[in-house]
Amino acid sequence: MPDLNDVTRGRILFGGDYNPEQWPEEVWQDDVRLMKAAGVNSVTVGVFSWAKLEPRPGAREFGWLDRLLDLLHQHGIGVVLATPTASPPPWLGRLHPDTLPRDEHGQIVWWGSRQQFSHSSTVYRHYAAALTEDLAARYGEHPALTMWHINNEYCTYDWGDESARAFRAWLQRRYETLDALNEAWGTAFWSQRYDSWAEIIPPRRAQYLKNPTQVLDFKRFTSDALLECYLAERDIVTRHSPHLPVTTNFMPLWTGQDAWEWAQHEDIVSVDIYPDPKDPLAGQFNAMIGDMTRCQAHGPWMVMEQAAGPVNFRGINHPKPRGLNRLLSLQSVAHGADAICFFQWRQSRQGAEKFHSGMVSHAGEHGRTYQEVKELGADLARLGPAVTGTHTPAQVAVVHDWDSWWADQQGGRLSDQVRYEELIRAWHRALWEAGLATDFARPEGELGAYRVVVVPHLYLLTDAAVENLLAYVADGGSLVCGFHTGAADADDRVREGGMDGRLRELFGIRTVHEWWPLDPGETVGCGTFRGTLWSEELEAAEDAEVVASYEGGELDGLPAVLRRGQGWYISTLPEPDALRELLTTVAREAGVRPVLDGLPAGVEAVRRGDLLFLLNHGRLPVELAVPGTHRDLLGGGTVEGSITLGRYGVAVLAP
Ligand code: GLA
Repeated sequence: MPDLNDVTRGRILFGGDYNPEQWPEEVWQDDVRLMKAAGVNSVTVGVFSWAKLEPRPGAREFGWLDRLLDLLHQHGIGVVLATPTASPPPWLGRLHPDTLPRDEHGQIVWWGSRQQFSHSSTVYRHYAAALTEDLAARYGEHPALTMWHINNEYCTYDWGDESARAFRAWLQRRYETLDALNEAWGTAFWSQRYDSWAEIIPPRRAQYLKNPTQVLDFKRFTSDALLECYLAERDIVTRHSPHLPVTTNFMPLWTGQDAWEWAQHEDIVSVDIYPDPKDPLAGQFNAMIGDMTRCQAHGPWMVMEQAAGPVNFRGINHPKPRGLNRLLSLQSVAHGADAICFFQWRQSRQGAEKFHSGMVSHAGEHGRTYQEVKELGADLARLGPAVTGTHTPAQVAVVHDWDSWWADQQGGRLSDQVRYEELIRAWHRALWEAGLATDFARPEGELGAYRVVVVPHLYLLTDAAVENLLAYVADGGSLVCGFHTGAADADDRVREGGMDGRLRELFGIRTVHEWWPLDPGETVGCGTFRGTLWSEELEAAEDAEVVASYEGGELDGLPAVLRRGQGWYISTLPEPDALRELLTTVAREAGVRPVLDGLPAGVEAVRRGDLLFLLNHGRLPVELAVPGTHRDLLGGGTVEGSITLGRYGVAVLAP
C-alpha cells in the first residue's frame, strides 16, 4: 500500500490548500514564484471546485485544472488532488432537493454555504461518484499528483427521509430482529416498543428526552454512512491510481466521526488543527492532537490544515504572535507529523473566510505572515532528511473512544457540566506537563507496549474493553481510571451495581452508593488536593488501599482515590497540579521517566527517532541543561551541556 513515506521521500511536505479559482490566472504565476521562494513542495487543490468543474449537470470544465496542474508540475510542486464533493453546486440542490439534508426539526439545510449534502442521498452519491470517476480518469496518472484527498472534513448529519431509510437498514444489519433492537434500546421504557421497522426514525425533535440508545446508534450510523461516502470515492481514485495514497482530513477531536475506525481505511491520516493562539495551553492542545493522530496513523501523519495567522470561526479571532506558527508547526513535527500544511495558500478577499489567514496574507509578500512562512519552510527543509519516517515513542497511553463520547453527550445525565473532550484534555495536559511522552489507544486495542494506561472517563465500556483492561493489568501494566468509568455497557445500559463488577474488583470498590456531581466552581477536599466537577460515594473493599479521602460534606471520610495493586481509580477530577502529581507518581512507580528531567514549566521535550526536540512555549527565554554534545539541526553548530531558547524558541538536537 502506498503511504506517506512514498510522498515525502526525505522531505517534510510543506504547503497548503490552494484555491486558485478565486484569482485571475496572472496571479497563479505570482503564486508559484512565492511558493518556490518559501520552499512549498505540496499544495492541495480542488477541495471546493465542484461548481467550477461541473457548472451544470454533466458538464466538465477541466481546462483550468489542466493548466494549473501543469504549471505546478513545471515548478516541481506536488499536488494533493481533492475530490470536490464536500460542496455541491447550487444546481444539485435545486434540481434534486432530496440531496439536501434535513436538521433535527425537519428543516432543509440549504445551499449558500457548503456541505449541504445528505450522506444517504443516492442522487448525491451518484453525482459525486461520476465527477470523481472523471477526475481520477483524467488526472490519476498526472506526474504532479502525489496523493488523493477525498471530500473535506466529513461532518454532516441528516435527519431526513432517505437517511431514515438508511438508518433502518443499518439497524437491521446490527440487530437482525426487532426484538433485539427493542431489548438494546430499552423500549419498554415510556412505551417506545417498535412493532415494525417502518416505525423507526432518526432521533428527530421530540417532546422530551430522547431514547439514549437510539441517539447513540444514530451517531454510530452517521459515522458509518459518511465512511461509505469516503470509501466509494476512495475506491474510484484507487482504481485509477493504485500507486497513490488516499486521505481525508479529520477535524481534531471531532465527535462526528469514529476516527479510529476511519483511519484504518486511509493510506495517510491527516488532520486540521486550529488551537486558539490566545490559549495559554495552545501547545498542549496541539500536542494532544498530534499524539492522537499519530496513533491513528500508526506512524507519521499529516497536518493537512492549520492557520498561519488568525482563523475567523471563533467569537474573537487572534493572530499568531511572531514565532508561534513556527513553534506549533515544529511541535507537530516532533509529535510525528511529516507534513505541515495550511488553510490556505493565499488569503481570500471575498467570501465567508476572507478574514481567515492565509500563508500569503492580505499584506502580501512583504507581510510578516509570509515572511515567517518562508522561514518555516527553510527550517522544515533542514529537518526533513533526519526526521521523516521516524518514530515518536511513548510508554504511557490515554484511552479514548467515540462510542463512549457519544453516549456521554446526551440529555438526562447527572451533570451537564461533564464534557468528555475537556476531560480528555485535562488528563492529557497532566501528562504533558509532567513531561511524559503519551500515545492514544482504543479501549479494545493493543495495550501491551505501555507501562501506564490512563482512562480519563469512559462511561461506556464494552465487555471486550473491560476484558482488555483487566488483561493489561494482569500482565503487569498500571491502569488509572477517572470518574464514572465503566458505568454502562455497549447499549448504554447501566451496569449492575453502577460500575462493571470486574472493574470494581480490580480497583477494590465494594459498592458505588451514589454519584455526587459538583456545581460549577464547587470543589471538594481530598486530603492534599481539591476535586472538581464530580465526586462519588464509594465503599472500599477491605484490601483496597485508600490513597486520598474526601473531607467535609456528605462524603467526609469516604475514598476519593483508591487502588488495589496496579489498578487505580480517581472518583473526581483533581485540580490540574494534583492530577499531574498523581499521574507522575503512578508513572514513577511503573518506571516511566519524563523525556528530560528538570525542565521549567512551559518547556517541552520530545524524542523523535534519535532527535531531541526542545520547545519553549513561553514568551521568556530559558536556559536548559542538556547533558552531552549534540548537533543543532536548526541553529547549526554544536550544543554542549546547555542551550538557550528564546521566546517560542525551538531546538532540534541530533547525536
Ligand atoms: C476547515 C476547512 C477549511 C476552512 C478552515 C478554516 O479546516 O477544511 O476549508 O474552512 O476550516 O479554519
